[in-house]
Amino acid sequence: MAQEKTENHKKLYIKTWGCQMNVYDSNRMADILSGLGYKPVEAPDDADMIILNTCHIREKATDKVFSELGRLRKHKDAKEEQGKKMLMAVAGCVAQAEGDFIMERAPYVDMVFGPQTYHELPEMVLKAAGEDRIINTEFPSISKFDHLPEQHTIEGASAFLSIQEGCDKFCTFCVVPYTRGAEYSRSATEIVEEAKRLVDQGALEITLLGQNVNAFHGTGPDGKTWSLADLIYAVSEIEGLERIRYTTSHPRDMGDDLIAVHGEVMKLMPFLHLPVQSGSDKILKAMNRKHKAELYRDVVARLRKARPDLAFSSDYIIGFPGETEEDFEDTMQLARDIGYASCYSFKYSARPGTPAANMQNLVLDHIASERLSRFQALINEQQLAFNKQCEGLELDILFEKKGKKDGQISGRSPYFQSVHVQGNERLIGTIQKVRISEGFENSLTGELVLEDGKVLNRA
Ligand code: SAH
Ligand code: SF4
Ligand code: F3S
Repeated sequence: MAQEKTENHKKLYIKTWGCQMNVYDSNRMADILSGLGYKPVEAPDDADMIILNTCHIREKATDKVFSELGRLRKHKDAKEEQGKKMLMAVAGCVAQAEGDFIMERAPYVDMVFGPQTYHELPEMVLKAAGEDRIINTEFPSISKFDHLPEQHTIEGASAFLSIQEGCDKFCTFCVVPYTRGAEYSRSATEIVEEAKRLVDQGALEITLLGQNVNAFHGTGPDGKTWSLADLIYAVSEIEGLERIRYTTSHPRDMGDDLIAVHGEVMKLMPFLHLPVQSGSDKILKAMNRKHKAELYRDVVARLRKARPDLAFSSDYIIGFPGETEEDFEDTMQLARDIGYASCYSFKYSARPGTPAANMQNLVLDHIASERLSRFQALINEQQLAFNKQCEGLELDILFEKKGKKDGQISGRSPYFQSVHVQGNERLIGTIQKVRISEGFENSLTGELVLEDGKVLNRA
């Protein structure tokens, strides 16, 4: 009888925090490590390598990493008792910002490396597999994108594609320019190629990613510098691709051509995440956002003119140093004027090394908390109103996963709402028409409809 080939791969466990760019990076790390025989696994217990891909954006980021490391260490100890090695690595933005501290405080960590070094992983792993401990928080002069392997780990029909990285804006509260480095755009030619490969592998939706994605300026096949608008046109021509999204944008980089694309490319989904951070010009200035609230209102109005059903989300920081009740009221008014489909809001937290960390005039914590809850109450009202408006509509839903309840599947509407329906798991990875039956604060429920209008299942 033929012997079954013994599976000889090594187990790789990656835990990812933070923004979608980290999700993309984790997939790319899995790609590059597959060349060394590593395959992703769901649990850390018996892994040969563990990578924590970390986020440094808000307070307690480093504490979270240390407590996770503490939990995972027992798996490493257990493995070592059996005479085997488990490599422990910290990657991402905490690694970049606190690399030395991690090396010092967690001697059992084998590797610490920042977001711009992932293409050097094979070398680093080989060294660490010996006795060396590795710290690599360089910003190499060559781009990792040119040295990552072609194949791409994708999960499901919705894929991320990093097109731009880093940031030169230096908002006074933000660590990103320090953890991700200077703004850099990939070549448009490469991006279109990668998008085609993703579609070949089953992606129906691609989200173009960047910390400042609408500042994109990559070289196209014609040798000219392409804007994000040019890139969206090119990507929209890929057959089999149904949906395009991009995130995250800065209001100042919302060019006329990009605004126009929203009215011209129907594959571009009618939902835009456009962070503003505050509605007070005084606070926007202190944040170094370099625009006023009026510019944001104007950009949103022009976008809505181009695509009347465009839905918006945003990020707001509440309780930035110097924020008075009047400034906060300006923030509330801006949110009322825009009317969001969804919105993130965060209490300001001082990040060491950023200019705002040295600012005086701190807002007392209980005041910031109280303002944040007023702001969030407004946003919850807006989300509920937006979701209620969708009741009775038929929307195309891209199903991504099983729902929480038995027999349920869930996916995203064009407006990025979570939609749950009763339906067969085989529909995961497809786009189906759904008649929306009820809108809640954070999701919708509905019923699958056949093209001829016959209801398949009741939610
Ligand atoms: N590039 C994006 C945002 C990146 S960070 C942009 O320009 O908008 C994601 C969000 O985290 C930010 O939009 C901001 O709202 C929040 N954030 C960043 N630093 C913060 C801090 N120090 N305190 C509270 N929230 C913060
Ligand atoms: Fe941070 Fe501002 Fe750059 Fe966004 S634009 S990543 S908030 S510095
Ligand atoms: Fe966090 Fe770094 Fe992204 S700090 S939000 S993982 S760029």
